[in-house]
Amino acid sequence: MSLQAGSIAARDAAAILHPMVNPGVIEDRGALMIERGKGVYVWDNTGKQYIEGLAGLWSTALGYGNEELAQVAHDQILKMSFTHMFNGKSHETAMLLAERLKTLVPIENASKVFFGCSGSDANDTQIKLIWFYNNAMGRPKKKKIIGRVKGYHGITIAAGSLTGLAPMHTQWDLPLEGGRFIHTDCPHHYRFAEKGESEEDFATRLAHNLEQLILKEGPETVAAFIAEPVMAAGGVLVPPRTYFEKVQAVLAKYDVLFIADEVVTGFGRTGNPFATNTFNLKPDTMTLAKALTSSYQPLSAVILPEKMYGPIAEAGRKLGTIGHGYTYTGHPVCAAVALKCLDIYHRDGIFERAARLAPKFQARLRSFADHPLVGEVRGIGMIGAIEFVSNKQTKAGFNPPGSIGVYCFERCHAHGLIPRNVGDGIAFCPPLIIDEAQIDEIFDKFSLALADTLDYVTREGLLAA
Ligand SMILES: Cc1ncc(COP(=O)(O)O)c(C=O)c1O
Repeated sequence: MSLQAGSIAARDAAAILHPMVNPGVIEDRGALMIERGKGVYVWDNTGKQYIEGLAGLWSTALGYGNEELAQVAHDQILKMSFTHMFNGKSHETAMLLAERLKTLVPIENASKVFFGCSGSDANDTQIKLIWFYNNAMGRPKKKKIIGRVKGYHGITIAAGSLTGLAPMHTQWDLPLEGGRFIHTDCPHHYRFAEKGESEEDFATRLAHNLEQLILKEGPETVAAFIAEPVMAAGGVLVPPRTYFEKVQAVLAKYDVLFIADEVVTGFGRTGNPFATNTFNLKPDTMTLAKALTSSYQPLSAVILPEKMYGPIAEAGRKLGTIGHGYTYTGHPVCAAVALKCLDIYHRDGIFERAARLAPKFQARLRSFADHPLVGEVRGIGMIGAIEFVSNKQTKAGFNPPGSIGVYCFERCHAHGLIPRNVGDGIAFCPPLIIDEAQIDEIFDKFSLALADTLDYVTREGLLAA
């Protein structure tokens, strides 16, 4: 694909600063211009059809063009297109959604829901609420938040500081100075376990390292630990056996709050309502976004437990306000769409559907394990990834890192599949309305792209002899 002067893609390249992509690629070849979508398919502006391998950005659980969601947005716009929530205003739609979320989330004594527009702003809210809470508790030093290497929590200044991926830090002056944002190990057994180390022993070592980190920093300075139950953008990293139970024991010992970032894993992705259920987690608070509206509207939510709300409210009363909120906090159209989305998840048994389809999805994914390019296949429920290596024995990657992931990703596009490249690998996270034949379609198309990639890698002499 080369950029044709005057084309939509050329005008797009001239007008938009594109996120998360090499600008040279946009300038040379232009973006893939997606024009419309229906069900699990999207079409580009040349009319070419693609099957969605990543549910938009890990998010469109109900696929595209859902008429019920369109109708509810339409009706809400006509009834009340916007009202804010500052200075004591509210509205029934946000209230109903907050009530519903409180009953749905596995958070002990869920007290209040705070709405934002994105996963990033929700994680910023988490950090601010925890700082505010610890000030209210008379613990002004307890402010550090621990993220993990390869974790992804967004890109705003605070959430981006929690993210543990180099491209979101290098030259962005992140993590923010002042030592409030620190990172602990990445729980990826395939890459970071020592030779012969079992998953359980690896988990024990990581929990020990976390404890050492907390002790080094001083437990009186460490406020919270944030984790995606399954790291998505970091490469779909499923935690090793016993990891969270060991980590949670350390957090409890030092009175460190646990924020479950369920922005990707929430709402059925792992075959249960939340990955917190799947991994039997006991988080203090939770971040939600993406499938909360199936990406039909931008909406995020923070779930605040009663033990935090009490001190926060008391401080707010003394100060005369809770000095936090966005213009679009509780936006009525977003809230109406989220409510409808939750209705559909319930009525159509979408979480159960994910659990039912998962064995087929995982079996097709894992069928690539013996391919000469494949180092590891991993996943759970309806999310997974395949990592490429140049040498299966040494697990050596490619140079430059990520180049073969991009190559395969582009070949997927050529064959009519949109997955996501994660380093030298490909991630899959299809809409949850997908059916068995469409799961086959995804992996049949992927196998063509993989064959092209193997041809390329062989031609270029990049595979170990
Ligand atoms: C786990 C997780 N948290 C937070 C975010 C940030 O969400 P947003 O892009 O809506 O700001 C993402 C985005 O992919 C995510 O995967």
